Amino acid sequence: MFRPSGSGHAGRQWRTFHLLVLAAGLLAVALASIDGLPPRFDRALTVVVEVVSLVFFAEYAARLWVAPEAPRFAGLSDGRARLHWAFSANGLIGLLAIVPIFAVSSGFHADSDAAPIFCVLWILKLGVHAPAMNTLGRVVLNERASLASVVIIFVMVLVTAATLTHMMERAQQPKEFGSIPDALWWAVVTLTTTGYGDVVPHTVGGKMVGSVVMVSGIVVLALMTGILATGFAEEERRREYLRVWDQVTRVPLFTQLGTVTLSEIVSKLRVRHYPARIVVVRRDEPGDSMFFISEGEVEVRLPRGPVTLAQGGFFGEMALLDRLPRSATVVTSQPTTLLVLYASDFYEIAANIPSLVEAVEREASRRRAENLGVAVRNEAS
Ligand code: CMP
Repeated sequence: MFRPSGSGHAGRQWRTFHLLVLAAGLLAVALASIDGLPPRFDRALTVVVEVVSLVFFAEYAARLWVAPEAPRFAGLSDGRARLHWAFSANGLIGLLAIVPIFAVSSGFHADSDAAPIFCVLWILKLGVHAPAMNTLGRVVLNERASLASVVIIFVMVLVTAATLTHMMERAQQPKEFGSIPDALWWAVVTLTTTGYGDVVPHTVGGKMVGSVVMVSGIVVLALMTGILATGFAEEERRREYLRVWDQVTRVPLFTQLGTVTLSEIVSKLRVRHYPARIVVVRRDEPGDSMFFISEGEVEVRLPRGPVTLAQGGFFGEMALLDRLPRSATVVTSQPTTLLVLYASDFYEIAANIPSLVEAVEREASRRRAENLGVAVRNEAS
């Protein structure tokens, strides 16, 4: 079944089309906000905005219609599934994105005052293309205790700084530091290291507080960045693990292994999607990885003619086993998903899971003999 967010070919093509439509819509609204454009240009932009609105409307209607097919709504009646989807983040973003269709249907012009709001409504759709958006939500949830501690430190420094500078500066600058809320503006600008320079302390005490606040700002931001970056990396690692797990089941070489052994390999594999006719490895280049085909097909370009490797096959092993440059160029012949195993991990696996590497070695020997046999026959004739 076609899934817009799926990793299949159709899903990827849909996302590319969706991104292009979104980019065209945003560009049209942004250009239309420029004053004094020739009327012909304005009309063209209006048409672009109309077409984009229609595409988003059709998308919303189609998604709402097929919502009952989604596995996560299994067991719900059609109506309830559609209602659930309509109130999900994607459903609400989709609904906001179709608001412009009403403006369009009531005689809209790209240079009208309401047009810029389309930018805000449509840009939300970009979030649908950020697979890491969910990850970010989970990171914030997972790290909420650490993040809350940093926010509390932030608020403590902020209020202390505002109170101290209010006490020191209020006589000299009553407008800027006359009250704690007034002083808070300066404290926020300084603590976030923005530093507009529109309000600055004049007294020695105020400057000393300012210095401490500036350094604290850097520390607080560094802490926040560190917590989010570590949480993000951890979450991405988990997601990649699930993605790889999903793909390894399509490679017979892996399915023969026990769960414990398999889980060791899964953490070392990376999923890569390639369109058709892409060179994955090039003859004579150094090899730093080998590839398992979990979906699609590749063509190994050998001197005697191409050899096709289908789902479940592997290539790129010879350069790792023989520590030689690539023996052939390998090109995808259709959209293909590969599981990549880097050399360092390959050698580690060779030590820990000999049965896997023996199977790879057996096939490599057969290929070497095949290539050599053909070369000898060619020389003899
Ligand atoms: P490597 O030499 O690293 O890069 C090119 C790859 O093509 C090679 O590893 C093998 O995986 C693959 N290859 C070479 N010869 C053959 C063959 N005769 N049949 C199938 N695949 C081959």
